[in-house]
Amino acid sequence: MRVLVANHPLIAHKLTYLRDKRTDSPTFRRLAEELMTLLAYEATREVRVEPFDIETPVAPTQGIKLSSPKPLIVPILRAGLGMLEGMVRLLPSAEVGFLGMQRNEETLEAITYANRLPDDLSGRQVYVLDPMLATGGSLAMAIHYLAERGADDITAVTLLCAPEGIEFMEKDLAALDIPITLVTGSIDERLNEHGYIVPGLGDAGDRLYGVV
Ligand code: PRP
Ligand code: URA
Repeated sequence: MRVLVANHPLIAHKLTYLRDKRTDSPTFRRLAEELMTLLAYEATREVRVEPFDIETPVAPTQGIKLSSPKPLIVPILRAGLGMLEGMVRLLPSAEVGFLGMQRNEETLEAITYANRLPDDLSGRQVYVLDPMLATGGSLAMAIHYLAERGADDITAVTLLCAPEGIEFMEKDLAALDIPITLVTGSIDERLNEHGYIVPGLGDAGDRLYGVV
């Protein structure tokens, strides 16, 4: 798995306010979207494109457009939904599938409670969105799902990661023979005893949408 940390002062600046516990939900939602748009620039560096002819007012030339099949964007519910708008703003013609996953807060194991994905992802580039990579259980499970359906190039985008989660993903996904890239805004220090990222930003889903 290739890991890219998007090192940019604007990303670090927005992450600062996202982390701050005084930031309210509307601001948190706006920042998550904006951060996704900035990370999308890095994450889509290798999006597949093909040439096509256009004419400027001055001369014919060649441009590029997204290749078919179009990329698929998969936010992991709930918290990944907070990143969707920031991604489709840059890739408006991409399709969107959904995975609902929830971590058992005691065992820290992820379960999947919703799945609305095309059955056949052969030849598709897939972008999976989830703000938090903690133990890595949720994201690794999502990537296995997508690879089983035929996705042949998967990029996961997270706002924050714990080093333990990256290490888990590297081992858990090692047998998959497709390119897997992780793009993130930060690799934080560690996980605490409750499986939360330190310093992190707390519970991303609750901060976006309220405590359930
Ligand atoms: C959070 C987060 C990730 C997961 C990360 O979701 O959005 O999906 O935990 O943890 P992991 O790397 O240890 O699996 P949560 O289960 O809290 O659900 P939510 O998005 O509905 O709040
Ligand atoms: N999920 C979150 O929302 N935050 C964490 O720190 C870990 C998992």
